[in-house]
Amino acid sequence: MNNKINLKYIIFLILSLLLIYGIWYFNNSIKTSKYIEPEIIATHYNGSNFVASETCMECHADIYNSHIKTAHFNTSSTAEKEHIKGSFKVDSNELNLKGVKLKMLEENNEYFQVSQPKFGDVSTTKSKIDIVVGSGVKGQSYLSWQDEDLIQLQASYFQPTSSWVNSPNFPDYSLNRKVDDNCLKCHVTFAKNKSESGIGNSYDRSKMILGIDCQRCHGPSEKHVIYHRKNPEAIKGEFVDNYESYSRQQRLDACAVCHSGLQGQHVKGNPFSFLAGDTLSLYSKNYKNVNSKIKLDVHGNQMGLLSESECFVNSPKMDCLTCHDPHKNQRAEMNTFNSKCLTCHDSNKVNRITENHIHDNQQNCVSCHMPLVPSEVMKLKLENDSEEIPVYIRTHLIGIYN
Ligand code: HEC
Ligand code: HEC
Ligand code: HEC
Ligand code: HEC
Ligand code: HEC
Ligand code: HEC
Ligand code: HEC
Repeated sequence: MNNKINLKYIIFLILSLLLIYGIWYFNNSIKTSKYIEPEIIATHYNGSNFVASETCMECHADIYNSHIKTAHFNTSSTAEKEHIKGSFKVDSNELNLKGVKLKMLEENNEYFQVSQPKFGDVSTTKSKIDIVVGSGVKGQSYLSWQDEDLIQLQASYFQPTSSWVNSPNFPDYSLNRKVDDNCLKCHVTFAKNKSESGIGNSYDRSKMILGIDCQRCHGPSEKHVIYHRKNPEAIKGEFVDNYESYSRQQRLDACAVCHSGLQGQHVKGNPFSFLAGDTLSLYSKNYKNVNSKIKLDVHGNQMGLLSESECFVNSPKMDCLTCHDPHKNQRAEMNTFNSKCLTCHDSNKVNRITENHIHDNQQNCVSCHMPLVPSEVMKLKLENDSEEIPVYIRTHLIGIYN
């Protein structure tokens, strides 16, 4: 009798121990098997590694899903049909310039520019479109690989006319232009130039990260991903930049590196060496040049213009993020922008009848105080039409206009 109880007791004890061990083993194996080494897709000049931006989705799904709809994410891509805005239809796929005729062709889901000079050697050249530059808000340019060398094609797409045009600043005879880091730096996350100066146009094709993704603004994040995969309970972000700790100038610089127009003169490292948190004046000279008050172009100098505005000069904290959410596509969300004006401008002061008009806080502030102005560079003269068709851009010189 006693033995029987003992046996039952022992069996029960063994089973319990097995169960506890089983639960312990199961929990731990989940923890260890959950950790997967992130795949490295390129290495920055400072030695830190980039991972694919889908990696961020695992823990930042909301930000990831809204970011992929932005002009930043879509500002460069491979040449799939859905990314190319220009038409390949028979009646709209030609561009006839003074010295060269261009024809755009689609063959088996690949896209080409066929160029035929009108003088001298008139043999044709067929170049494949490999990379699309521009989300298409105003236009797109197209790049082509010649082995490891990257060139910009002559035909670009111009949104206001929905047609093919000669690429900005190209002559009207046949030309392909070399694409170096100074062109790519604002439209891709990373490119590995064969010469570290970034002046040549030879690249390691497998190390090109298209689109402006998370790591263009937050820095290469391999260590951050490894840390948080290994420490799923951690709630504070580690090994990643923290915009909240930045000074106003650092926050501005993180955007100004690409939004100061094209006049920024390069002084340090490779054009991709600047990362958020760095001080732009150490990498680039005269990037705050504002001589473009009248001469705005498609590579709009938002930084220079904003910094000349009364709002900016008189508000110690204003930066780009006062009005822009870096993870959202906010195009044409005028109510959002107008409400930002009223966070600083007292409704009582705005609500008044002046000599010329009723000024009230229901109005579209942006339409009068940040008007659309024609671009000086992105404009087009149609052959039989003397009028120039420009692209319009939103000036960031906030002020009183007629
Ligand atoms: C395994 C989970 C995980 C992955 C993968 C991950 N993160 Fe994070 N990240 C976190 C956690 C946890 C925090 C801290 C909480 C928060 O701010 O959301 C964080 C915070 C951040 C912050 C804010 C830091 C701060 O202090 O302001 C940034 C920026 C960031 N992550 C970028 C990225 C990027 C870019 C990627 C992809 C390359 C990425 N993260 C992938 C878990 C992850
Ligand atoms: C690596 C360069 C780069 C950085 C850094 C950058 N931008 Fe941009 N930004 C671009 C380019 C290129 C475009 C044009 C995208 C397109 O339409 O193809 C753009 C477009 C925009 C637009 C227009 C979006 C639209 O819907 O048309 C806004 C707003 C903007 N950027 C704000 C910012 C802010 C704010 C920051 C800083 C947090 C920033 N950008 C940092 C390169 C950059
Ligand atoms: C200093 C940063 C910078 C450089 C360098 C630069 N871009 Fe841009 N680019 C921008 C920004 C910012 C915008 C968006 C301008 C705006 O809306 O004000 C833009 C817009 C464009 C657009 C129109 C995009 C759209 O969706 O409407 C095209 C096309 C373009 N760039 C092509 C190029 C090409 C080709 C080169 C190289 C020869 C180049 N860019 C060099 C920053 C740059
Ligand atoms: C154009 C630059 C830019 C890009 C691209 C970008 N971010 Fe950010 N991100 C910022 C800035 C600027 C802040 C700080 C916002 C602030 O302080 O108001 C920020 C803040 C964050 C934060 C912390 C605060 C928050 O909003 O939760 C996380 C996490 C983050 N980013 C993750 C990502 C991930 C993941 C991606 C890609 C899917 C991404 N970011 C793409 C500029 C960018
Ligand atoms: C961060 C706070 C802030 C924000 C946001 C802001 N402003 Fe201002 N703004 C100011 C300050 C400060 C001045 C200086 C005059 C004053 O004190 O009223 C000013 C001046 C102005 C002026 C007079 C300009 C001149 O040249 O005399 C106009 C017009 C104006 N703002 C319109 C706007 C509009 C429109 C918006 C939204 C797109 C806006 N502001 C957003 C702070 C701001
Ligand atoms: C129809 C065009 C128009 C709209 C819309 C408009 N404004 Fe104005 N605003 C003006 C003009 C013109 C002046 C200068 C003459 C005056 O004071 O009426 C002005 C002056 C100002 C000033 C100068 C400083 C002051 O108080 O005298 C501020 C600030 C301002 N506006 C803010 C705003 C804000 C915020 C909104 C949106 C709620 C807005 N405006 C909407 C045309 C406009
Ligand atoms: C006072 C608010 C405010 C501030 C501050 C601000 N912006 Fe804007 N930004 C706007 C508005 C409003 C638009 C127009 C949006 C639209 O038309 O959809 C705009 C549009 C843009 C565009 C698209 C331009 C175009 O014409 O297509 C870019 C690029 C941009 N902003 C960059 C920046 C950068 C970079 C900074 C900081 C240097 C900045 N913005 C600061 C309000 C602001």
